Amino acid sequence: MLKNKDLLGLRNTSAEEITEILDNAEEMKKLVNSGKKSFDLLKGKTLITLFYENSTRTRTSFELAGKYLGATEVNISASSSSVQKGETLIDTGKTLQALKADFIAIRHPMGGAPHLLAKTVGCSVINGGDGMNEHPTQALLDMLTMRETFGTLKGLKVAILGDIKHSRVAKSNLFGLQKMGAEVWIYAPRTLLPKGIDELGAHIAPSREECVAGANAVMGLRIQLERQSGGLFPSLGEYAKFYGVNDDVMKHADGHAIVLHPGPVNRGVELTPQLIDGQTSRIEDQVTSGLSVRMAVLKLLSEYREAHA
Ligand code: CP
Repeated sequence: MLKNKDLLGLRNTSAEEITEILDNAEEMKKLVNSGKKSFDLLKGKTLITLFYENSTRTRTSFELAGKYLGATEVNISASSSSVQKGETLIDTGKTLQALKADFIAIRHPMGGAPHLLAKTVGCSVINGGDGMNEHPTQALLDMLTMRETFGTLKGLKVAILGDIKHSRVAKSNLFGLQKMGAEVWIYAPRTLLPKGIDELGAHIAPSREECVAGANAVMGLRIQLERQSGGLFPSLGEYAKFYGVNDDVMKHADGHAIVLHPGPVNRGVELTPQLIDGQTSRIEDQVTSGLSVRMAVLKLLSEYREAHA
C-alpha cells in the first residue's frame, strides 16, 4: 500500500513503496506484452492529464495507462485551455475537482507546482515532471528497465552523463536508485552540474571514462536547450566530442552494460546513433516500461483512495 494519496517525487518515497510499484509494473508489463490491454480496475474513475509543457512519452503513456485500466481519460493542454486566459493552477485544480476527477497527472515548468495542486485538491496528483525538480515515474520506469535486465538494483553502478543541472530525471533517479541500493555516478561540464548534488549522494566523476568505468547502466541525458540561458558549453559538436557517450567510452563500462536515455534524444549529441539503435540500447524498452509503471501507479493510488475513502 502506498502511504500517500499523491505521487509527487521519489525524495519522500520509501524503498518499500518503490518495490511495490516496480512489482506491480512488472505484472502489468507481462499482461500488456501478452496482448491484454483491457482491464476494469479503474472503471468509473476519471484521469485528467494536465500538461503545461510538451510531452510525447509521459502524456501518451498516462493516457493509455488510464484507458487500458478502464478509466475515463481526458487530456488538457495548457496552450488550449483557460490557462491562456489567466486562470491560476489552483483555480484549474478546483475546476477539475468539481468535474469529479479522481487522478490528475500534471507536467509543469515550475518546480513544486504538483505539490501545490496536491494541497488544493482531493484528487490524487501524479507528478509528470515539474521544472528542474523531479520526474518520479520516469525514474521508476528506468529502475524497472534496469531491474528486469539485472534482476536487482542492489549493487548496480549507474552512470548518468549530460545536462544534470536542468534534469528532473537525474534527481528522481538519484533519490530512487540510492534507496534501492545502487550507486549513482555523474559526469557533465561544470556548468551543467548543480551545486550540492554530491550532498544528495551522487559521485561526481573526474572524467567521462571514470564515470562509465565498470558501470552496469549508462544513461545519457538530453541537453535541455529550452531551459538554458546560453553559454553553458561552446557548441553541440564540442559537447558530443568531450561529454557524449560513444562506443569508445562504452568500452570502459561493464561487459554487459546497457544504454538508457529518457528521451527525447538529441541524436549524435548525448549518445551516438550507433548506441541509440544498437544491441545494448534499452531506450524503446524504457518507453514500454513507462506504460506499465504508470498503470501500476494508478492502480496503487486507486487502492489507497479506496482504503482511505
Ligand atoms: N522522458 C520524457 O519525459 O519524455 P516526454 O517529454 O516525451 O514525456
